[in-house]
Amino acid sequence: MAQEPQRIPKRVVSGMRPTGRLHLGHFHGAVKNWIEISKKADCFFFSADWHALTSEYKDMSGVLQAQREMFADWIAAGLDPERCTLFVQSHVKQHAELFLLLGMISPLGWLERVPTYKEQQEALHEKDLHTFGFLGYPVLQTADIAVYGADAVPVGQDQVSHLELAREIVRKFNHHFGAAGKPVLVEPQAYLTEDAKILGTDGRKMSKSYGNAVELGEDPESARKRIMVAVTDPARVRRHDPGHPEICPIFHLHRAYSSPERVEMVDRECRSAGIGCVDCKKLLLESLLPALEKHRAARAELDRTPGRIDELVRLGTEKARKVAEQTMVEVRAAMKLA
Ligand code: TRP
Ligand code: SF4
Repeated sequence: MAQEPQRIPKRVVSGMRPTGRLHLGHFHGAVKNWIEISKKADCFFFSADWHALTSEYKDMSGVLQAQREMFADWIAAGLDPERCTLFVQSHVKQHAELFLLLGMISPLGWLERVPTYKEQQEALHEKDLHTFGFLGYPVLQTADIAVYGADAVPVGQDQVSHLELAREIVRKFNHHFGAAGKPVLVEPQAYLTEDAKILGTDGRKMSKSYGNAVELGEDPESARKRIMVAVTDPARVRRHDPGHPEICPIFHLHRAYSSPERVEMVDRECRSAGIGCVDCKKLLLESLLPALEKHRAARAELDRTPGRIDELVRLGTEKARKVAEQTMVEVRAAMKLA
């Protein structure tokens, strides 16, 4: 996908819900970009545990363990904790304060019009999404970003509407509370990252809740099984039926893990029915399994010093709190609450 040239951001914020071990979708959709951007900008990455509550309040029993797994996987995957600040959202209360204040000026109509609001209510029947918290979560997300004065947020295409809303809320805030045209909060830009789509093994979006995910540190036997039963292009009913690699989860994985020559070969031979899906999958495993093994080794290394990650996150949370409090001092003053 052609990418427009983007400014290099100075301050970056992004969060992820603590759902446990990372899968390939998390990595290629987010963490890989975080690693890149943390080489250029001052980055804050957090566990969005309050966001998890918006849909999971009925059962949060596994969240602490899930959060540990997630932080460890971020680092094992290559995120350098020396180059960015890692923290837990609920341990920085300034997010909640700014959320409350922004909530006062956020029009209900804006929130009701966020596309994912109705969509998710309709799609996720088993969850209770008819709450104030769920409607308001884009406001919390705005606070998450604005409290660090972030000018950029790395997001996929699916989050662009949230970012647009964040910009509008910040603009409205600055309009009412900025002194002599001087903004109080920074308007964040979406930092659009290349959409390296990884599909789940059933052809839907990769998600733990669909049971179609391959974990970053999945063991070889179970990864092999998942790949060998994965769906491919349904047009390839028989061996000599030509296929369309662009819709096939196996091809997406080849693009992420195989050499350019092999990707080109698979692309060509799939379309001409020169290669069968079983052989294509075996080729994929040759490049995928070593990558999973590398992650497992990095995780095992980290797990040898338990407590190290808790300590990193504790320090990161303290730093995040200081930066967030500076913003809040200005916000309170601007709103005559000081
Ligand atoms: N809403 C995001 C998700 O569900 C997580 C998130 C929360 C976030 N706050 C954020 C992402 C701020 C970027 C910036 O995955
Ligand atoms: Fe997918 Fe490969 Fe089969 Fe083509 S040959 S449909 S890319 S598994």
